[in-house]
Amino acid sequence: MKVFSITAVVALFATQSVLAATTAAPCDPNTCKLPSCLCPSLTPPNGLQPKDVPQFVTITFDDSVQAELLATAKDLLNVKNPNGCAAKGSWYVSMLYTNFALVQQWYANGNEVADHTFTHVGTPSSQEIAAARAMLNQYAGVPLGKIKGFRAPFLNYTTDTLREIAKQGFQYDTSSTGVVDDCYWPYTLDNGLANDCWNNVCGSDLKLPGVWEIPMYAVNDNQGTAQLMDVYLSGSPSDVTAWSEANFERHYNGNRSPFGIYVHPTHLTNYAGLADMSSQKAAVVSFIQSLASKPDVWFVTNEQLLQWMQNPVPASQLASQPYMQCTLPNVGKEICNGLENISIASNIVSGSLLNNCNFNTANWGTCFNCPATEPTLDNPTPNNAVAESDPKFRHAVPSNCDSLWWDPIAGQCLCSNTTCAYNDTSVPLTTIVANSTTASTTGKVAEETSVKSAAATMATTLFGLTLGMGVAAAVMIL
Ligand SMILES: *[C@@H]1O[C@H](CO)[C@@H](O)[C@H](O)[C@H]1NC(C)=O
Ligand SMILES: *[C@@H]1O[C@H](CO)[C@@H](O)[C@H](O)[C@H]1NC(C)=O
Ligand SMILES: *[C@@H]1O[C@H](CO)[C@@H](O)[C@H](O)[C@H]1NC(C)=O
Ligand SMILES: *[C@@H]1O[C@H](CO)[C@@H](O)[C@H](O)[C@H]1NC(C)=O
Ligand SMILES: *[C@@H]1O[C@H](CO)[C@@H](O)[C@H](O)[C@H]1NC(C)=O
Ligand SMILES: [Zn+2]
Repeated sequence: MKVFSITAVVALFATQSVLAATTAAPCDPNTCKLPSCLCPSLTPPNGLQPKDVPQFVTITFDDSVQAELLATAKDLLNVKNPNGCAAKGSWYVSMLYTNFALVQQWYANGNEVADHTFTHVGTPSSQEIAAARAMLNQYAGVPLGKIKGFRAPFLNYTTDTLREIAKQGFQYDTSSTGVVDDCYWPYTLDNGLANDCWNNVCGSDLKLPGVWEIPMYAVNDNQGTAQLMDVYLSGSPSDVTAWSEANFERHYNGNRSPFGIYVHPTHLTNYAGLADMSSQKAAVVSFIQSLASKPDVWFVTNEQLLQWMQNPVPASQLASQPYMQCTLPNVGKEICNGLENISIASNIVSGSLLNNCNFNTANWGTCFNCPATEPTLDNPTPNNAVAESDPKFRHAVPSNCDSLWWDPIAGQCLCSNTTCAYNDTSVPLTTIVANSTTASTTGKVAEETSVKSAAATMATTLFGLTLGMGVAAAVMIL
């Protein structure tokens, strides 16, 4: 039986306008230019007029991927984009209780898979980040180069966290908060962070050229309190819908910076013995459907959003961009690539292609080999349960084939032309895991040092609490 904790509610307090603890470094748009550099800005990139740009809506999901949670995510994404393709979402995946066969299914259907650490800890070590990346690649077959994003558990990041994701080759972080005055379009960290200026990251010497920050866009409730994640826990469904709509209109009729809906699917999924969340879920679904009925509203992954940011086109040209297409590959036979007919309700796969990896605390499917022992933080991808000579052996996705086209049983790439060709040039995994084992030792030292010197930060946070200028982020432990 899976155990959920939905009691841990952590409030992050953003008080930048009052405390002005730190300020963002200046950024010169004459030298910081697309596609590799973009200054923080409230207005759309490349001088585009708000009325001409798409209104992007990003629906993101956090924590483990399980059958019931995936079903909830699919219910939220059950709308179409203006080009007829289904809405896509991003999932920031932590490892415990995750069913990797379902991660692969999510990825194969055009959604984004991103890193949310192995054990879901705040201030993660390099190994926490590398281990999740390794497992998503090994057991869900997601090419390393397609795992582009990171979100810190509890949104609790430091300069070290951001330096680490740059080192491991991630394209972006999305852990910071944008309230009204700093609802910046995504920007690069060439001149450092410009959000969360109540902490010591903004205004520090952190400079990460070419790494993007996608602020999480908060909404103000009817008390004027900024709400960030799981906003449906902050009032009656009709109240939440009313202030969500008002905030959406602020984006849509304003500078059209992206609008975010940030979900822990456990909070919208019913479990025996816990509160019935059906009416909250129905309200979110109907809010999303009302957005879908407006012109120029596009539901995209954070990865798609960044593809547009690097080469912004008017809304009228978005439908034809390669990254907005949704044709699924037809490989001519049923292979284990995430596009088998998986019945979510009963968690049964049509074919018998999946392996079932069964450990005391975890039980998950995969198209690849099960590990011989349960993955741990220090050893996230243990030796395979079967030898290469075994007829049941599965072949790992190679760097020159996207898993959509990879038959792990035959060990064959079914893509034979440039349209589907893939060449993964990301920072290799073996290097990361090997190096980060050493690096995590230094990481621990650094962590202890920063805990000792955290008094100032603490005082700032408590001061923020007293002032009550909060961004409420209901997050859960798992
Ligand atoms: C957040 O980070 C700070 C500084 O590293 C740490 O002291 C604190 O325990 C973290 N909180 C959580 C919830 O992880
Ligand atoms: C999968 O579903 C499609 C459409 O529902 C169907 O045409 C196909 O036969 C199914 N394949 C298997 C192996 O069940
Ligand atoms: C590329 O190859 C795949 C599979 O081999 C095929 O389904 C697809 O139609 C091909 N595309 C083009 C443009 O030839
Ligand atoms: C993949 O990309 C790397 C780096 O750009 C290049 O050296 C290599 O030749 C490419 N491989 C293929 C098969 O295109
Ligand atoms: C890992 O360590 C090796 C050998 O020390 C080094 O060549 C490589 O650049 C390192 N990789 C990273 C990502 O730091
Ligand atoms: Zn989380």
